[in-house]
Amino acid sequence: MRVGVIGGGQLGRMLAWAGLPLGLDFIFLDPSPDAPAAALGPLIVAPFEDRNAVFQLAGSVDVVTYEFENLAAPLLREVAAARAVLPPPLALEVSQDRLLEKQLFQKLGIPTTRFVPIASREDLEPALALTGLPAMLKTRRFGYDGRGQAVIGDTALLDAAFQRFMGAPGGLLLENRVPFERELSLVACRGRGGEIRFYPLAENVHQQGILRSSRVPADVDAEVARAAMGYAKSLLDYLEYVGVLAIEFFLENGKLIANEMAPRVHNSGHWSIEAAETSQFENHLRAITGLPLGQTRLRGEALLVNAVGRLPEVHSLLELPGVHFHDYRKSPRPARKVGHATVLAASVPELEKIMPKLLVQMPFETAS
Ligand SMILES: Nc1ncnc2c1ncn2[C@@H]1O[C@H](COP(=O)(O)OP(=O)(O)OP(=O)(O)O)[C@@H](O)[C@H]1O
Ligand SMILES: [Mg+2]
Repeated sequence: MRVGVIGGGQLGRMLAWAGLPLGLDFIFLDPSPDAPAAALGPLIVAPFEDRNAVFQLAGSVDVVTYEFENLAAPLLREVAAARAVLPPPLALEVSQDRLLEKQLFQKLGIPTTRFVPIASREDLEPALALTGLPAMLKTRRFGYDGRGQAVIGDTALLDAAFQRFMGAPGGLLLENRVPFERELSLVACRGRGGEIRFYPLAENVHQQGILRSSRVPADVDAEVARAAMGYAKSLLDYLEYVGVLAIEFFLENGKLIANEMAPRVHNSGHWSIEAAETSQFENHLRAITGLPLGQTRLRGEALLVNAVGRLPEVHSLLELPGVHFHDYRKSPRPARKVGHATVLAASVPELEKIMPKLLVQMPFETAS
């Protein structure tokens, strides 16, 4: 079977790497001739909105998937009329727009932040009455790694924040800033027949809006884990989803608040390559190609740490016991994720002994 992947970044690269043992072949579409996934299959170099290129990709494969969210959803819908496109375009449309996403959370009874769409400067004061301070002004579309958002701690900051994002395609949204205790994420996978597998909740640490580390299993009450799985199941079933879906949550006063979702394999699940019986990448592929889903059981305690801005020194990194490293082969740039490391340990004390040693070796550079 041949899988077409729109996007040739590190997610495409890790997908293909997981799919080769299953006998799958891959072809990618990406605007960059140096796309990291090109090492694992042919690459069509074209903009994501290039209709001919997207149809060329679709015409040469059995199933189309995507590893990048900012695609033209109408084009993907057109492709879906001719070829299986999974996850379904509806899931992409919803995840692309923070307003649609939060409205869907609400509709399905999934707690989320208080939010108000903002069309003009005059909308901000009434919106603040609902969200309260501090609030966050976000672009509805095209945000990632904390880009496209500003914290508003004081009404004096309203004008500056509005000026900064005014005119953003898709508009803006104001929401309350959640004083969360912790951030958690759930990676789930739904197969073609509707069966669902959940990975254990991960506890995530963000710095400057960028994921720094993910630890599994998160130390949470069984009730919290059950609630997260329930929310994920309602989303997956509602969207008639096939593939991996990730949901990011805040934990506030012991209760989950959904922040956003991603219709794809997710950075906070990369630890699953070494630490789960079946990785999120393999399960995504099993799902979209109609194969039975694999077990998601953990092989131990794990921590993932991203390398941001520049690569670590690999030799000394790998001297740490239980550490695995992934180089995305991307040119280093401030604030860019260029690789990650996962440490797998047999116990919590063992993991906690290595954690600080791993963290100091993994760069986090956001400014040049
Ligand atoms: N309403 C909020 N309250 C508190 N913190 C927030 C809020 N919104 C965002 N953050 C912080 O900023 C981080 C990034 O925000 P968010 O996930 O909404 O944006 P993103 O840029 O789309 O991120 P991603 O890289 O995950 O796609 C969150 O993980 C959280 O740490
Ligand atoms: Mg996020």
